[in-house]
Amino acid sequence: MSQAYSDRGNKDRSVANPKGQGSVIPKGTGKSHASLGGPFLIGESMTGGYGNGPDILHDCTIAVEKGEIAVIVGPNGAGKSTAMKAVFGMLNVRSGHVKLDGEDITGLSPQARVAKGMGFVPQTSNIFTSMTVEENLEMGAFIRRDDFRDTMAQVYDLFPILKDKRNQPAGELSGGQRQQVAVGRALMTQPKVLMLDEPTAGVSPIVMDELFDRIIEVARTGIPILMVEQNARQALEIADKGYVLVQGANAYTGTGKELLANPEVRKSFLGG
Ligand SMILES: Nc1ncnc2c1ncn2[C@@H]1O[C@H](COP(=O)(O)OP(=O)(O)OP(=O)(O)O)[C@@H](O)[C@H]1O
Ligand SMILES: [Mg+2]
Repeated sequence: MSQAYSDRGNKDRSVANPKGQGSVIPKGTGKSHASLGGPFLIGESMTGGYGNGPDILHDCTIAVEKGEIAVIVGPNGAGKSTAMKAVFGMLNVRSGHVKLDGEDITGLSPQARVAKGMGFVPQTSNIFTSMTVEENLEMGAFIRRDDFRDTMAQVYDLFPILKDKRNQPAGELSGGQRQQVAVGRALMTQPKVLMLDEPTAGVSPIVMDELFDRIIEVARTGIPILMVEQNARQALEIADKGYVLVQGANAYTGTGKELLANPEVRKSFLGG
């Protein structure tokens, strides 16, 4: 494991867990966290589903604090992607709120949320495969009217392979490289917060480690990261805060370290 991981889970700050207890989700208080210096981005007590279908999320809360990495784990079909979509405005929540930097954005469209500073990399179809790498990055900058070349240079610094392959159709890249394109595209809007749904899906353990290193690097530039991860153990190791979702609800919440140490979480979700 690389150096960058080493102390991430030890950053158990009082702000993330004020009472030093395992679960820090205030259930159904309905009060604003942000006004109390709470999370930078929070989907709070979200209940809702797709169209007229049944509710998928049940009073579900996910959040990320400034300067932190928050990780959402849980079994397939638990509603992790649905929770991310709800926070990004792709799902009509029947109840609950989404707040960004203290502002209630529950009613905003996804595009308006991007304009507010949210970057989102969905789990699937997150790049334009027939376009070149560079065109993908340019598409990412669609809301910008200013010169985005500096940002593109930063993305190429972060992911040097993308610079080498900038004129190649993105569909010709490997899985890990495509994920870099997807993250790079999201960074092009200069987001204030980045949401990643399974950024390491389908990549080898080595590539996963590399992607996690890059994600930590992005977090260090001051962009809080809210991500869903299939590789639960590894992800919780780099997480300041972790959420275990089961059947659309919060099952366990704590620092990454706490969840890794929790016997029930270990047994049920981390393979012992
Ligand atoms: N577009 C959709 N329309 C209707 N139901 C959906 C839709 N997308 C997901 N669902 C349902 O919502 C539930 C949660 O799915 P979701 O994709 O959020 O799970 P997940 O935790 O992200 O799973 P995975 O680990 O496989 O990505 C599932 O029962 C799924 O069938
Ligand atoms: Mg998913």
